[in-house]
Amino acid sequence: MKITNICCIGAGYVGGPTMAVIAKKNPHIKVTIVDINQTRIDAWNSTDLSKLPIYEPGLADIVKETRNKNLFFSTAIDSAIDGAEMIFISVNTPTKTYGKGKGMAADLKYVELCARNIAEVAKNDKIVVEKSTLPVRTAEAIKSILDNTGSNVKFNVLSNPEFLAEGTAIQDLLKPDRVLIGGESAKAIESLAQIYASWVPENRILRTNVWSSELSKLTANAFLAQRISSINAISELCEKTEANVDEVAKAIGMDSRIGPKFLKSSVGFGGSCFQKDILNLVYIARSYNLQAVADYWEQVIILNNHQKQRFANNIINTLYNTVSGKKIGFLGWAFKKNTNDTRESAAIYVADYLLNEQACIAVYDPKVSHDKIQADLNYLNTRSADENNNLIHASKTPLDALKDAHAVAIMTEWDEFTTYDWKKIYQSMKKPAFIFDGRNILNKTEMENIGFTYTSIGQK
Ligand code: NAD
Ligand code: UDX
Repeated sequence: MKITNICCIGAGYVGGPTMAVIAKKNPHIKVTIVDINQTRIDAWNSTDLSKLPIYEPGLADIVKETRNKNLFFSTAIDSAIDGAEMIFISVNTPTKTYGKGKGMAADLKYVELCARNIAEVAKNDKIVVEKSTLPVRTAEAIKSILDNTGSNVKFNVLSNPEFLAEGTAIQDLLKPDRVLIGGESAKAIESLAQIYASWVPENRILRTNVWSSELSKLTANAFLAQRISSINAISELCEKTEANVDEVAKAIGMDSRIGPKFLKSSVGFGGSCFQKDILNLVYIARSYNLQAVADYWEQVIILNNHQKQRFANNIINTLYNTVSGKKIGFLGWAFKKNTNDTRESAAIYVADYLLNEQACIAVYDPKVSHDKIQADLNYLNTRSADENNNLIHASKTPLDALKDAHAVAIMTEWDEFTTYDWKKIYQSMKKPAFIFDGRNILNKTEMENIGFTYTSIGQK
């Protein structure tokens, strides 16, 4: 079937950029992205492109090119489902916060709601595509809901997980390493493959069974996160032995079997995917009674938590065992550079540890607002919103955040942090002035020559 009308449910970090690129590369297809969140849809429709709800390099240009031509953002979910031949489910699948599997399993309630919505509205045959990251065998549940609504509509369910990374989403979508399509019906698979074939070379479009596709997504994220925890584990050993973790990473990364990517030691990985998907993998393994498998992957998360805690402890220990009443300037709050997303950012947890020790924190992040920072901390429920509001605030400029600070903590690797006038910053800070570089982006010798006491990850 040649697709001419697509609906995507979920206008988030995946739905927005993914559909924008599909629309750009398939001008003959009408693409409607729908969401229950009116504010988000209004932001996507904003004439001021700097107000789009998601910051991604290159995204605004594509939205400008396609919006209201063949790309539409709307809250009219039912009519978009009705008109579409293919429906992508791209809603959030967070870790459950209640009931069975609390803190581990993926919460599939939003996905189930979408399936029920599609089943109720559909009047003709539809291809339903799982774009959200889902536990292996979810397609079975979706198919069961779709098929048991009493209508005579035929549904084909495909798994088409998304591998984009935030901050590079548009490039990842324009030049994907691979596109993965899992399904039972060869015809349905080819309908989706055709859409991608508008710009993705045929040999990069993989077809598998549904379960392999679902499990490949969780596995890819687990392997990527595992590399970071592996190098972060070595970083602690480096700090004891005077080895340098960046030198070790370079040396091992030149082995073509290991490869150089994803070996940057840091304050710990964040983002909405790695922790959630590994916890889900661990939960699935436990549910099949595969304890050794579950324990193996859980260690990736345990090490990541240890790395964040260790970074905060190091700040406290170095500042003469107390940060009470001391100003700590945070550079960066987003979980990585080039995004305004803060979900599971290491900065949140490091701030929380330091606030427990009564530190005062000033944050500068080029893309994150004061309200977002407060919301992230309030979500942890460690202290009252008023207390958070008193102890931590966002600064408009880096100099404001660092003026009279006892220490700088670099939490995100934004490029602009390396271009600052660090001499001027040094002069404005309390002495001795400390830098804790959680991303290893500054030059140790240069900082020490200015007068800073400089600590990075994985270097003595
Ligand atoms: P998000 O929270 O940014 O967006 C999800 C959107 O779905 C929200 O705007 C929400 O309002 C909407 N929604 C929820 N239930 C709905 C319903 N019943 N009807 C209509 N709209 C509904 O999430 P995201 O980051 O885009 O992630 C979506 C999925 O993609 C998740 O499963 C995630 O694991 C996966 N994924 C995310 C990334 C990433 O980098 N963010 C990458 C690959 C895969
Ligand atoms: C990840 C996967 O990369 C992507 O394929 C998937 O679709 C969604 O999850 P994302 O979380 O957006 O993407 O960003 P990613 O670049 O993977 O970074 C995740 C975290 O790991 C960030 O906090 C980043 O700073 C950290 N990281 C990454 C490191 O600490 N070291 C590295 O070498 C790489």
